[in-house]
Amino acid sequence: MKTEQEIINEVSDFVKVAMKQYDSGHGWSHIERVARLALYIHESEGRGDRFTIEIAALLHDVGDHKFAVHDGPAEIRALLGRLGVDGSVTDEVVNINENISFSKGKTMTAKSDELQIVQDADRLDAMGAVGVARAFSYGGFKGREIYDPQAGLPGQPGIGSASRNSASTIHHFYDKLLLLRDLMNTATGRRLADERHDFMVSFLDQFLREWDQGKSH
Ligand code: ADP
Ligand code: NI
Repeated sequence: MKTEQEIINEVSDFVKVAMKQYDSGHGWSHIERVARLALYIHESEGRGDRFTIEIAALLHDVGDHKFAVHDGPAEIRALLGRLGVDGSVTDEVVNINENISFSKGKTMTAKSDELQIVQDADRLDAMGAVGVARAFSYGGFKGREIYDPQAGLPGQPGIGSASRNSASTIHHFYDKLLLLRDLMNTATGRRLADERHDFMVSFLDQFLREWDQGKSH
């Protein structure tokens, strides 16, 4: 029988290797931050199972485009089965892996405590200064413009489908990142999201002022 700590270490090693097979140097650090934030939220909220939350945070992006592995649930079941993890823990880890993403999260109704917490942690890492850095890193990786003033922003003329497709990385803030604060599941997540949200708002304000600086002259 492996101890919980041994299982966590082996899951971490699996995730590090699985992420390396693909690319993106920021992959593992995202996983580490999400695991740390999830445990912090768990402690502050006093709900959910700590072990399930940590394993689910480590495995939340397996099967995502960032990984070489495409069938996340099958890979997770094989790994956790090999490590002798309880079936009910495995089922919950798979449930979180399948339902954590932005699009699915909007429509799903009943969320377990563990899913609520890991989802908040993942969303928090897309916000604030780290979120700004990750957005431009991803945008650069995809060859996107940092900003396309032709496409229009909410509150400006010209807003349309261009924005919904993230015409530029600045548009991605209006399409997704500024919506995350109001999607927080937990009170702790919401408290952490407030500061990160306000930082993104002031970042965008400064960015757009600099972009147009000197225009009126
Ligand atoms: P996660 O790893 O948290 O599941 P994603 O894989 O959706 O998140 O995206 C990784 C990072 O790239 C996030 O910070 C996200 O905001 C950013 N990102 C996703 N789509 C875009 C986009 N169209 N433009 C800029 N950044 C994006
Ligand atoms: Ni993630």
